[in-house]
Amino acid sequence: MDKRSFIFGTAVSDYNFIGREKETQRLMANFTEGINTILISPRRIGKTSLVKHVKNLLDSEQDIIVVYLDMFACKTEYEFYNALSAAVLKQTASHAEKWMEYAKEFLVRLTPKLTFSPEANTGFSLSLGITPKTHTPDEVLNLAEEIARKRNKRIVICIDEFQQLGELPDSLTVQKRLRSTWQHQQLTSYCLFGSKQHLMSNIFQLRNMPFYQFGDMIYLGKIDKEDWVDYIVSHFKDRNKNITRDLAERLCNIVDSYSSYVQQLAWLLFSRLNEGMSATEAQLDLAVNDLLDANEALFMQQVEPLSAYQMNFLRAIAMGHHHRFGEKEIREEFNLGSPANITRLKNALIKKDLIETQGRGLLYLTDPVFRLWLQRRMM
Ligand SMILES: Nc1ncnc2c1ncn2[C@@H]1O[C@H](COP(=O)(O)OP(=O)(O)OP(=O)(O)O)[C@@H](O)[C@H]1O
Ligand SMILES: [Mg+2]
Repeated sequence: MDKRSFIFGTAVSDYNFIGREKETQRLMANFTEGINTILISPRRIGKTSLVKHVKNLLDSEQDIIVVYLDMFACKTEYEFYNALSAAVLKQTASHAEKWMEYAKEFLVRLTPKLTFSPEANTGFSLSLGITPKTHTPDEVLNLAEEIARKRNKRIVICIDEFQQLGELPDSLTVQKRLRSTWQHQQLTSYCLFGSKQHLMSNIFQLRNMPFYQFGDMIYLGKIDKEDWVDYIVSHFKDRNKNITRDLAERLCNIVDSYSSYVQQLAWLLFSRLNEGMSATEAQLDLAVNDLLDANEALFMQQVEPLSAYQMNFLRAIAMGHHHRFGEKEIREEFNLGSPANITRLKNALIKKDLIETQGRGLLYLTDPVFRLWLQRRMM
C-alpha cells in the first residue's frame, strides 16, 4: 500500500483529508458565486489543505478556474507581481505547455518591449522579468480579469501566506493598489488566507485599512472530534492495527483536536505497534512523551527570546488562568510585575502568536502541545 497512514507538516488530500464538509461547502459557494473570502486560523489547522481540497473539487468544472499561489517567498511588491502573473498564466493555460503562449498574448500587449529568454530555467519570475519599468501594477493586477474575459470563465485566485503582504516595504501603498484594482473586477475573485493571526487581523480587521470588509471572513476552527476518531480508527485498521474509539478520543483530547498534532500523535502511537496489536493507554502516554520530545527544540527556540516576565505570564496561562491577571494574588503568585506591565506582556505575546484571546477577552495559549510542555516543565 503506498498510502501513508498519517501525515503532518504538509497540506493533506484524499486519503489523509477528513471532515470540513461545512467549510468546503461554504468555500465552494463563494468560489462559484465570485465572493471574496478571507480565511484565518492558527498555524497548522488546515487552511492550505482546505483550499487545495476545494480547488481539486472545482478543477473539473468547465467555467471556473482556481489559481493557487503561495506568497511566502515574496519580499517586495514586484516579486509578488511576478509570482502572481506566473501563477495566473501557468494555471489558466488550457494545456501545461501553453503558458508561454499566454504570456506572449497577454503580456506582450501590455508591454511590447517584453522579451523572453527560453533557455532560462531558473524559475518563472526571471523569465517574466516584470519590473516597474516594464509594467504598471495595474496591468499585472488585471491580467487574470483579462484572461477570464477572453476565455469566458470565472477565475478565483487563492493566495496563501497572505500575511506576507503586511511585511512588504511600503505595504500600505501596495494594499491600497491591490484593493482598488481588485474591487472593480467582475470575473475574478479572491481567497486570501494565512497564519500569524495578528498580521492577518491587521490587514483585514482595522477600519482604516484598505482590505477592511473585503469579503466573507471565515475563522477556520478545529475538525470535529467525531471525524478525527473515525479517521484514526479506520487508518489503524487499514494497516491491521487496532485502537478503540475511546483511546482515539483521548488522543484527540490531549492535543485539543489541533489538526497537525492529532496526526502526529496518532502516527507516534501507530508506529509503536506491530501488526495485529491493539494500542494501550500506556503506549499513548509514551507517544505523548515522544511528541513533546519531537517538538522540544522548536519550543525552546520560541521561549528563548522571551523575558522573564513574559515566561511568567505564559506559565500563569498554562496553569489555567485566563483572565484577572491584574489581581494582586495572581500577579504575586506568578511574579507579573505592575498592572500596567500586564497589558504590555499580553500585547507582546499576542504579537508573537503564542497566546490568543477567545470569547470575552479570555487568554489562551495558541498551541496545546506548547501548553503541555510548559506544564511539564513547571512540575
Ligand atoms: N482536513 C484535514 N484532514 C486531516 N488532517 C488535516 C486536515 N487539515 C489539516 N490537517 C493536518 O494538519 C496539518 C497542517 O495542515 P495545513 O498545512 O493545511 O495547515 P495550515 O493551516 O495551512 O498550516 P500553516 O499555518 O502552517 O500554513 C496537515 O499536515 C495535517 O496533518
Ligand atoms: Mg498553510
